[in-house]
Amino acid sequence: MSKSLPINGTAYVEFYVGNAKQAAHYYQSAFGFQPLAYAGLETGLKDRTSYVLKQDKIIFILTAGLMPDSEVTTHQKTHGDGVKVIALSVDDAEKSFNDTVSKGAKPHFEPKHESDADGEVVLSAIKTYGETIHVFVENKNYNGTFLPGYIKWDPDYKPENTGLLYVDHIVGNVGWGEMDKVADFYKNVMGFSQLISFDDKDISTEYTALQSKVVANDNLRIKFPINEPAKGKKKSQIEEYLDFYIGPGPQHVALATEDIIKTITALRDRGVDFLHVPDEYYETVTERVGEIAEDMDELQKLKILIDNDENGYLLQLFTKPVQDRPTFFFEIIDRKGGAQSFGKGNFQALFDPFRRYRVGTGQ
Ligand code: FE2
Repeated sequence: MSKSLPINGTAYVEFYVGNAKQAAHYYQSAFGFQPLAYAGLETGLKDRTSYVLKQDKIIFILTAGLMPDSEVTTHQKTHGDGVKVIALSVDDAEKSFNDTVSKGAKPHFEPKHESDADGEVVLSAIKTYGETIHVFVENKNYNGTFLPGYIKWDPDYKPENTGLLYVDHIVGNVGWGEMDKVADFYKNVMGFSQLISFDDKDISTEYTALQSKVVANDNLRIKFPINEPAKGKKKSQIEEYLDFYIGPGPQHVALATEDIIKTITALRDRGVDFLHVPDEYYETVTERVGEIAEDMDELQKLKILIDNDENGYLLQLFTKPVQDRPTFFFEIIDRKGGAQSFGKGNFQALFDPFRRYRVGTGQ
């Protein structure tokens, strides 16, 4: 019997963006997502349009508002492009809602049944940090393309995938002094456990500092690191996010691959911008992580970061922000030998170059 709220995995991540049609093209051409479903004026919606894209188990919805008073438009006006919904796949959306609300979650919408010729789904939603929400998706009785209300989207343009497989973790940035409160929300309301804790003594450089706690459900398919800013010599990167997102929100989604060399090569070829990693990083990395199977020259050429823990090692790389504001970005991660951690050893290497990029040297 599981102690945490039973969750099968990430159902989808929904982004509210300024222009869903163009964003969809970016996710197809740059990241190799495949077209799946569509909803908008043609399907009877008046205030929004949504493109649904898929790559292996990862589903993204890109939604834009059509009218100035649309909830999507007002969200995007305040926050810029970003993640609005982290949807969780459950066996019972009504029970998930009732259990979490009874433990203190704030409702976003009550359980609702939606159906079409392909079956029925049950959806419910609760609020989490900032204006972000969790939708509980129960679709075991549905055989359609995506969800009721969506039609199949099947254009001729289908660039090849880039080897991305599933959502590994989703990081939230919250305000000063809010990390414990948000971590407690996941522990008390969802029954999550805390995996790892590190504080500003661990992740403090000349340029930035943060504190982070990682909460996860029992089957570890849902892992949410929660960051808050910490005092550094310069403004914290987390604080900068909060200033530009206008409050707490999802900082990055980590997408898993089992062949990071192939994936990063494909993404770079298609114009995805990654964090600058100095060559000096590779001078000491073997000392820090020991021997690994991959060719170090190839990792250095692609600027892939390496870290390890007691179980194994992980290869990772972070994109630059994928919209105009210095807010949301992606991580590509390849875990080897059952590595469970999140790349703490790379934060020192990460933040200095990231900061250089962010202050506009163009690296
Ligand atoms: Fe991460």
